[in-house]
Amino acid sequence: APTIRQLLLSPPPPPAACVAVNGWVKSIRRQKKVAFAVISDGSSDAGLQAVFTDINLAKNLTNGASVRLQGTLADSPGAGQEKELKVSEVEVLGECDPERYPMQKQALTVEYLRDHCHLRARTREIGAMLRLRDSTTRAIHGYFEDNGFIHVHTPIITSNDCEGAGETFRIAPSSSDASTSSTSDAKPSEYFNHPAYLTVSSQLHLEAVASAISRVYALSPCFRAERSQTSRHLAEFWMLEAEWAFTSSLTELCDVVEHAIRHVLRTHAASPDMDALWKQHPAATSEAKRAELQSYADAPQPWTRLTYTDAVDVLAAHHAQTPGGAFVFPPAWGSSLQSEHERWLADTYVRGPVFVTDYPAALKPFYMRLNDSDRGGKERQTVACFDLLVPGMGELVGGSLREERTGLLEAALERHGLDKADYAWYLDLRRYGGAPHGGFGLGFERLISWMSGIESVRECIAMPRWAGRMLL
Ligand code: 4AD
Ligand code: MG
Repeated sequence: APTIRQLLLSPPPPPAACVAVNGWVKSIRRQKKVAFAVISDGSSDAGLQAVFTDINLAKNLTNGASVRLQGTLADSPGAGQEKELKVSEVEVLGECDPERYPMQKQALTVEYLRDHCHLRARTREIGAMLRLRDSTTRAIHGYFEDNGFIHVHTPIITSNDCEGAGETFRIAPSSSDASTSSTSDAKPSEYFNHPAYLTVSSQLHLEAVASAISRVYALSPCFRAERSQTSRHLAEFWMLEAEWAFTSSLTELCDVVEHAIRHVLRTHAASPDMDALWKQHPAATSEAKRAELQSYADAPQPWTRLTYTDAVDVLAAHHAQTPGGAFVFPPAWGSSLQSEHERWLADTYVRGPVFVTDYPAALKPFYMRLNDSDRGGKERQTVACFDLLVPGMGELVGGSLREERTGLLEAALERHGLDKADYAWYLDLRRYGGAPHGGFGLGFERLISWMSGIESVRECIAMPRWAGRMLL
């Protein structure tokens, strides 16, 4: 049987041709001589209206039951749908007790659904989000394929903490019998003879592959023992990461990010799932938001780019000009940009996506390439990096050129208190034909949240995990 989406999109079947449809009953309305049900199979936001002129056929239908219906597809005289199924045969495949079933007409709260995330995919919003993740994934693959990138799979289990932020999850076998017998010292033995972590980023592995395959990318799960309980942080999230060799240009890195995101925005401008998601908001907001996203896709290139140093200047000026100060944290060169700073830059100052570049080296991980000179005569204080900040969200992407000069990389490892021996392989990449290279990482759930207007990244993934919460 075709999915409901295929059925509604495909050329009309010959009149009176019998079609079969599988799905779940979303709602049912019984009148004296006729009954109507909406059947959904999740293939699209639109359900299929089923019409029962023999009301006996509908007598065993309840909300949530899984059914197989047969009938003929006809133009619908009613408002709200173009086609409807005139049902001639009904098979209830799985009953659903309407007394117990929690998914009823009235919307369930976000909290309730977080507590019952095995049922969440049945809601219209989560269904649309899942299809949006799918089409976004496809758009991303399309963009990178068109631009000569090779998709690679990088390890989930790793020995490194790429970001050096101490947010790794350490892993071990659940039973001590599983550890290797070769370790005879008194310390607890490690399954891998080495501490093992869930990856926080594929970047270092991608660098190794890019050192031979030139242009690579991965869309992989990442894991962070985040302490921040915010609408932008998950313990398990997906990151799009690209890495490519033979670039010494921060501008080029920003261009690739910008073009990839514009491509995704254009792909989704007319998506019915985006419509379904935006419709959750008041109509005016929904229209305005869609126009806003479209304007970012169509804006003259490039999106605004400014250095960290300039960003701190404008933030500090705004803070000074605002009676009582504009920010909780006064902006100062050398301090991290707080999310209130990021939001003001994107929401108010630029009113659009903005790349902030060349942050102080001291604020960033060891692998970023030192700038030889900085504005204002500060020597080797900043790194060739960027964060992309977007309105309503703040940081969506982070990236940089990577330090390819062996001596400077060794010095950076030392500055960050990292053991050179652990990074011997990473130094090899530089010693053996090390090419200038760079890349970036984009938080997939943040992209979905930004595009869809879904408030929290927790509703941008099927089964969210965050500190204190991991169901099923
Ligand atoms: O800025 P981050 O930490 O950069 C890296 O990990 C680099 N190694 C990426 C690279 O250059 N290949 O993370 C990149 C992006 C962030 O901008 C954010 O969008 C997202 O990943 N992100 C998270 N998303 C959800 N939950 C979390 N806990 C996240 N941490 C980062
Ligand atoms: Mg970052």
